[in-house]
Amino acid sequence: QTIYLADYAPVPVTVTHVDLQVRLDPLATRVSSRLTCIRQGPGDMVLNGELLKLRAVRLDGEELSPDAYSLTDTTLTILNAPDSFLLETEVEIAPQTNKALSGLYMSNGMYCTQCEAEGFRRITYMLDRPDVMATYDVQIDADLPVMLSNGDETAHGHWRDPWPKPTYLFALVAGDLIATHDSFTTMDGRDVALNVWVRPGDEGRTAYALDSLKRSMAWDEKVYGRVYDLSVFNIVAVDDFNMGAMENKGLNIFNSKYVLASPETATDADFANIERIVAHEYFHNWTGNRITCRDWFQLCLKEGLTVFRDQQFSQDARGFATQRIGDVLNLRARQFREDAGPLAHPVRPESFVEINNFYTATIYEKGAELIGMLRTLVGAEGYAAGCALYFERHDGQACTIEDWLACFEAATGRDLTQFKLWYTQAGTPVVKVTEHFNDGTYRIDLEQVIPDTPGQANKKPMPIPLAFGLLAQDGSEVVGTQIHELTSETDHLSFDLDAKPVLSILRGFSAPVILDFVQPDAERLTLLAHDTDPFNRWEAGRALAKDRLMRAVTDDADFDAPWLDAMTTLATDTDADPAFRALALALPSEDDLAQSLHNADVVPDPDRIYAVRRAAQLAMAEHLRDDLSDLRESNATPGSYDPKAEDAGKRALSATLLRLQTMLDGGKAARAAYDVANNMTDRMAAFACLLDAGDETVAHSFEQDWQDDRLVMDKWFMAQVAHAAPRDAVGVADRLTRHRDFDASNPNRFRSLIAGLTGGNPAGFHNPDGTGYEFLASWLLHLDKSNPQTSARLSTAFDGWTRYDADRQAMMKAQLERILGTTGLSRDLSEMVIRMLKA
Ligand code: ARG
Ligand code: ZN
Repeated sequence: QTIYLADYAPVPVTVTHVDLQVRLDPLATRVSSRLTCIRQGPGDMVLNGELLKLRAVRLDGEELSPDAYSLTDTTLTILNAPDSFLLETEVEIAPQTNKALSGLYMSNGMYCTQCEAEGFRRITYMLDRPDVMATYDVQIDADLPVMLSNGDETAHGHWRDPWPKPTYLFALVAGDLIATHDSFTTMDGRDVALNVWVRPGDEGRTAYALDSLKRSMAWDEKVYGRVYDLSVFNIVAVDDFNMGAMENKGLNIFNSKYVLASPETATDADFANIERIVAHEYFHNWTGNRITCRDWFQLCLKEGLTVFRDQQFSQDARGFATQRIGDVLNLRARQFREDAGPLAHPVRPESFVEINNFYTATIYEKGAELIGMLRTLVGAEGYAAGCALYFERHDGQACTIEDWLACFEAATGRDLTQFKLWYTQAGTPVVKVTEHFNDGTYRIDLEQVIPDTPGQANKKPMPIPLAFGLLAQDGSEVVGTQIHELTSETDHLSFDLDAKPVLSILRGFSAPVILDFVQPDAERLTLLAHDTDPFNRWEAGRALAKDRLMRAVTDDADFDAPWLDAMTTLATDTDADPAFRALALALPSEDDLAQSLHNADVVPDPDRIYAVRRAAQLAMAEHLRDDLSDLRESNATPGSYDPKAEDAGKRALSATLLRLQTMLDGGKAARAAYDVANNMTDRMAAFACLLDAGDETVAHSFEQDWQDDRLVMDKWFMAQVAHAAPRDAVGVADRLTRHRDFDASNPNRFRSLIAGLTGGNPAGFHNPDGTGYEFLASWLLHLDKSNPQTSARLSTAFDGWTRYDADRQAMMKAQLERILGTTGLSRDLSEMVIRMLKA
């Protein structure tokens, strides 16, 4: 059942062209397929197929006799196939009953598909693996106004995709849809029709997605020289979708949450996500589609690179510092957590049971960091040369990480053997930094330690690019940014200086590592005020805050005036970007503190962490008391809503300040803000504050206003659980599962409620009575019967279970064992639970 990278072998018989005819029907869709097959080596042809009713098999027009093929639940094997032939099959499937949302399914009466990673085999028999690339002709038969597939449309419902692609990039959509149209002229002068297809009624919310698409197309031409290659680019919004979106060739399918936006219904964060994900899926056209993965172990080849590209795009669109800080926050919250627990795995794993369980923060976000480090190591020009060679050498191929790295070795002459360890060794390296100043010599000692992870111990040192600079104690810069490559376990740097400088290390977060560096408060305050690297200015503030919160948890320490003064200075510093100030005023999350305490050998107490964070906010609020309303006033964004980053930054700062105000006034300012809000960003910020303050009417009035809007109601479900008092959270979540609009089969709604508890309300989830754990396990078991991908994904809330006290550990373990002991468990969820229990 376990699949190993080492076992990779090409198929004996491949498919070069697929001809599909799909007669749509909710319960009896007929799929007729004609595969052009060519032998490339000895062996039987084994096609994948799941939940298919086979009606006919023909080889070169002749009905196959039963002794010429064999059939199992998951395969169709053609015995003794000739060297080249046409294989025809007819199967029947039922999209209406497909609640796993993999393969062909229905969402609100519309037909749609999700084939990555292995959904195509639920549509027809095929070699469902990425190294089999074929051209497609698709004919959709149905009495529906809109019928879409990949490529270019040749007649209504007839599509031809001239670019060879693997099955996972196949897509089909049909139903009653409306498009918003636009167009883009490529740099080589071709016109591309752009359409965003939505359900009738949603067409007023597509403008931002279209605008993001056009900007992405222009950016990829300008920065990577990548030009679009079909005459049409379609995006479809679907309400029931397991993930964010999917890069199917010429027909991207999106979770409607990441397409639809209006100022009234979407927040600044939604707008930013739409921009990022539209770009991400578009960029896949070259990094993923034109050049794809040889096998699923190489998933980071397309995902890490495409995330890196979308991060670069967002930095250009929104400003380097705030984007970088946001990306690092996300990396630490999700990937560092994963890397520190039982689910840790290398960016390129060596084995898996269910590939859908590996669409992880490690493959995506750490994968992107590896591209960023590579760029730092070979320089911007070397990076451009390596990419150019990759596109030229591998266009039309299914590739490996070795292929990718070889392009950079060839283009730059650099040996990347040691760098490749980043792809094969799991775990977040810890870089220990110690300083010495003696007689005019300043010395930095460096040491890297890579922790053991499941199945991996005694790791080799990796090349770690450390960007650093030195400041004088007065804050002026004495050494500008340099890159030091730490390649061995220990190393040191020396400088001749008159006085001990202030070290600014890991500038721009130049490597995905944890720094173990005890720096005096005074130096951190200097960095916070003066560092030329904005990331490290923020990082210094974060280190100061984290120290205080941790000492408040462990020693009941007070929040000292110098720190509160620094926070006030930041809040009121009108020279600094509001978005930056909002980020700098935000405290480390409860989960971040739990992990940091655990790393420091302190058993985290979720209630205590919750209380200490509140106390810190109260202390900040009291310190800033006289400035709060003026500050909010001066960061107001009057007039009509504009999603641009500059305004979003002001709204973020204003929301942070409103939270502080709420600590003091019990919700008065928030009530006023709620009543005048003319956009969802301000409204949600005020709503959350009112829930925090225990307001008992706002949830009802919000519901009255928005009950007909499913995306807004997702926020309503989530916020109530996330902002419930810890002891009430499980009860609130449980009550909401009985609300008439709670629908577990819709992944967005299910995730809102479940993640609202597990991620949004850690003290509530970790209620010492164990009800949070029982609640999660029960709902995972419920969902697993219909949608294993999503149940497996949400089960990761249990992955930190060994951090906690013996009682909580026992209760979480009992729930994991209860799940594992249930009959009929999916492969997806059982793999996750088994891995977590091995901790
Ligand atoms: N390739 C898609 C993206 O990164 C993700 C699709 C993953 N879907 C899945 N079922 N595993 O944009
Ligand atoms: Zn992707």
